[in-house]
Amino acid sequence: MSRARRSAPSIRQRLVVQLVVVAALLSGLLYLSVRTVADAAVETTQDSILGAATTTIAEEIRGGEDGIEVDIPYTAFSMLGAIGQDRVFYRIMVGAETITGYDDLPPPEGGAATLEPRYYTRSFRDVDLRIAAVSRTVLVDGRAVEAVILVGQTRQGQAVIVATMANRAAALGLGFFVVATLLSIVTAGTVLRPINRLAEAVGRRGPQDLRPIHRDVPRELAPFVTALNGFITRLGGALSRTETFIAEAAHHIRTPLATVRAQAEIALRQTDDDATRAALRSVVRAVDGSARSAGQLLDHATVVYRTDQRTDERVDLGALTRDIARTFEPTADLREIAIALDVPDDLVAVTGDRLLLESALRNLIDNAIKYGAPDTQVDIALTTTDGAAKICVLDRGRGLSGAKALTDRFQRGENVGDIVGSGLGLTIVQEVAQAQGGTFDIVNREGGGACAILQFPLS
Ligand SMILES: Nc1ncnc2c1ncn2[C@@H]1O[C@H](COP(=O)(O)OP(=O)(O)O)[C@@H](O)[C@H]1O
Ligand SMILES: [Mg+2]
Repeated sequence: MSRARRSAPSIRQRLVVQLVVVAALLSGLLYLSVRTVADAAVETTQDSILGAATTTIAEEIRGGEDGIEVDIPYTAFSMLGAIGQDRVFYRIMVGAETITGYDDLPPPEGGAATLEPRYYTRSFRDVDLRIAAVSRTVLVDGRAVEAVILVGQTRQGQAVIVATMANRAAALGLGFFVVATLLSIVTAGTVLRPINRLAEAVGRRGPQDLRPIHRDVPRELAPFVTALNGFITRLGGALSRTETFIAEAAHHIRTPLATVRAQAEIALRQTDDDATRAALRSVVRAVDGSARSAGQLLDHATVVYRTDQRTDERVDLGALTRDIARTFEPTADLREIAIALDVPDDLVAVTGDRLLLESALRNLIDNAIKYGAPDTQVDIALTTTDGAAKICVLDRGRGLSGAKALTDRFQRGENVGDIVGSGLGLTIVQEVAQAQGGTFDIVNREGGGACAILQFPLS
C-alpha cells in the first residue's frame, strides 16, 4: 500500500564527509606551510654560514706595496665542511683579474659593493651553486683597489635536511588528518544524538499515544517539536470530532427514519385503499433499505476510525458469537431460517477490538440470513486450529455469482438485485480481518449457498 520511502543521504554521513574534507584540506595546508618554513629556515642558516666564511676570507686580504696578499684561513672552509659532503669553490678578484681560485666562478650581477654578503644561485659545472659575494677595498701601493671575494658551495647537505623535514611534515599532516577524522566521526555522533533520541522516543509510542512530546531538546530542534506537538493536538482533535460526528450522524439518521417507518406502519394499518397500502409498503421497504445502508456506511466509518484508534483487549470469541447470533434470531424467524450455533464452551480468547470483531461477525450473519433461502438453516461454527480461531458462517441460498471482488467497496453480486444492500458489508469484514491480523475468505458452498470463513490469531 505505502510506497517504499527512498531515504535522503544521511546527515551523519554528510557531516562526516564534510568534516573529513576540511580535515584533508587543513592537513595539506599544514604540510605545505611546515615545508615552506623549514626550507626557508634551512636556506637562511646555510646562507649565513656561507656569508660568514666569505667575510672571514675577505678580512684576511691585505694590501701592500707590491700587491695583494691573501692568507686563506682554514677555519673558513672547516665552517662550511660542517654540513654534509658539499663541495666548495672560491675566487678572489681584483677588478677583472682573478688572483686566486676558480676564474670561471660567476660574479654577482651588478657586482658586490660591501662587506655585507650578497647571495645568489648559479649553475656552475653542471651543479647548482649557492654563492656569497663580498667586496672590500684594500690599499695597494697607496691606491685603493676593489677586491671581490666569491665563495660557492653545492647544496646537497641542504637537500638532505629539506627532504628529512618534508618527511616529518608529511607525517605530521597525516597524523593531524587521522586525529581530525576520528574527531569528526565522534562529533557527528554527538551532534546527531538528540535527533536520534527524539526519533526513538516518538517511534516507541503506541498508535493511540497522542500526548504531546515533553523532552528537553536542543534549541534547534525546538521548532520541530513544537510543530509536531501542534500536529498531534490537531490530529487528536480531528479524531475525537470524527468519533463524535459518526455517533451523532448515526443518531440523526436513524431516529427520523424510525419515525417515518413507524408512521408509515400506522398509516398502513388505518387505510383500506389498496393503492395507498401498496405505496405505503414501498415506503416502508425504502426506509428499511435506507436505514440499512446508512447503518452500514456509518459502520464502515466506525471501522476505519477504530482501525487507527483501536483499544485492544482480550475478547472471548465464543461469548461474542453467541451474543450476536441471538440478536439475529428475530430477523431469522421472519424469514423462517434457523440459526444453528456450534461454539465450544471453552474460552476462545483473541486480542482485538471488541467493536471491530462484533461488526465483522454481524455483517457475515446478516448476509447469510439475507441471502439464505427461506426454510433453511444458517450454520455458525467456531473452531480453533493451530494458533487461530476460525469462524465459519454457512447458508443455503443463492450463493455467489459474478467474478467481481466482493470485498471491494460498494461491490455487489450480479444475482442480488432484488435484495436491499450497500456493498459495504464484506468490505468491513475484510478491513477488520486485516486490522486484527487475521484473514477472510468467502466461497460458494457445496450443495448451494455461501461459506464465509473468518480467522483471527489466538491470544
Ligand atoms: N451469504 C451470501 N450469499 C450470497 N451472496 C453473498 C453472501 N454474502 C455476500 N454475498 C455477495 O457479496 C456481495 C457483497 O456483500 P456485502 O458487502 O455484504 O454487501 P451487501 O450485502 O450490502 O450487498 C453481496 O452483494 C452479494 O452479492
Ligand atoms: Mg451485507
